[in-house]
Amino acid sequence: MELFDFVVVGGGIAGLSAVVRLAGAGRVLCVTKESFAESNTAYAQGGIAVAMGGSEDVSLHLADTIAAGDGLVNAAAAKVLVEQGPRRVEELLGWGTEFDRAVGGELLRTREGAHSLSRILHANGDATGREIARALLKYVQGLKNVELRDWTVTVDLMVEKGRVEGVVLLDKAGTLARVGARAVMIASGGAGQVYSDTTNPAVATGDGIAMAYRAGAAVEDMEFYQFHPTAFAMDGAPRFLMSEALRGEGAVLINAAGERFMPAIHPMAELAPRDVVARAITREGLNGPVYLDMRGVTEIDLKARFPGISAFLAGYGLSLAKDLIPVRPAAHYLMGGIKTDVWGKSSLQGLYAAGEAACTGVHGANRLASNSLLEGLVFGVLAAESMVKEQGSGGKVEAAGEVVKAGGSDEGVEEWIAELRAIMWENAGLLRDSAGLKRGQARLDGMFRRMPRGVTRRQLEARNLYALAGVMVESALGREESRGAHFRSDFPEKGPIARHSVMERGRLRFE
Ligand code: SIN
Repeated sequence: MELFDFVVVGGGIAGLSAVVRLAGAGRVLCVTKESFAESNTAYAQGGIAVAMGGSEDVSLHLADTIAAGDGLVNAAAAKVLVEQGPRRVEELLGWGTEFDRAVGGELLRTREGAHSLSRILHANGDATGREIARALLKYVQGLKNVELRDWTVTVDLMVEKGRVEGVVLLDKAGTLARVGARAVMIASGGAGQVYSDTTNPAVATGDGIAMAYRAGAAVEDMEFYQFHPTAFAMDGAPRFLMSEALRGEGAVLINAAGERFMPAIHPMAELAPRDVVARAITREGLNGPVYLDMRGVTEIDLKARFPGISAFLAGYGLSLAKDLIPVRPAAHYLMGGIKTDVWGKSSLQGLYAAGEAACTGVHGANRLASNSLLEGLVFGVLAAESMVKEQGSGGKVEAAGEVVKAGGSDEGVEEWIAELRAIMWENAGLLRDSAGLKRGQARLDGMFRRMPRGVTRRQLEARNLYALAGVMVESALGREESRGAHFRSDFPEKGPIARHSVMERGRLRFE
């Protein structure tokens, strides 16, 4: 069995920024199931929120994060995020990240929903995540002590007496292998693929969260899935993200009658918190299509400011400057995940998590726009720092258990996954109630018998999605209130006490 000091599962911003820290303390293996260019990080458009304008900005950023989270934000974690954010972003700049700048060299900042001022840095207009991923990967590739393994699927965690001792990997040749480590970090991102409509790439199947849960780790707040209000909505087209930065730069939302509806719903109108805008669009959408309208924004060159979005729209014969852009919400970001403290420690010894796969409670019930890249950066580094202190030896389970054989036909797996995703969209989506959630649960139960049981990437993903769907529905049923992204039509009010849901070994509790 191969032995490393540290294994990091996931190659987005959280995983790679952890690798930078870990490389100074031992041998690191970082694995990702596709190329390192493919992660949720790379798809982030709008930017990275950071309070680089002094102490007033830091406290405002904290206040905005807490307000957006609808009473459920872990304020201590949010304080760490906003206070350490500027230092981490300076580091990113030092590693070669090129954010957009004014002619004089000053960093440009934009605004998004629920931010009280413009503090969001962006790169190449609307390709911020891709630029950060590029720079980080280049930097990490130059480090000693680091092995980057792409096209390598993590099948499961190796656990011995409640302690994580390493991982089981499936390589591109279809070979299974165990790798021991002193500490393992899950930074494999979210699970947007659990829904039929998502802005997330195909890799976002929640593998790391599912394997941590299987291994016995507690997961938290899994009912809180953020639906981005404005994903492109045209039959046959992908649910491509229409960045919130479009609204930050002046786009408005109009209904089928050509009327703005957000000013009557929230004082921040189109820049209200994301959950508020997403629900408003869903309700408005019952009466006809909803559009983003940027035709009135004439003071900026829209093609230059939003080159990626403009190129995508051009493929459908549309332009931001001249056309109404059809939009409706799509699953975007999981606020819940593996329950950790700010140091990335999970409930299992030897297991750490950071970024979207983790839940520190920093986003509460609704993440503030563009806080996710910052989250990966800040908590990825903190998790790495605590992993370095981990005393485990790793690899103790070499002789224990049988690793199942890889392989099996993928026939029928796509259909099975599509059925699961449709069930989740129909029954555990943006507006939920007990009847729908129970219906969803029964339909998921009915799929169990037909669950793919082979060991191929797609079948492992199917099982991971299934595990998470079950946890999400059960947590959503248990939360009999409406808060942030979790809206129960049968319990439309917020409960008197803000509590986190925790699922551990099949049991749900609130704390
Ligand atoms: C966006 O560009 O609208 C996405 C930003 C985010 O999800 O925070």
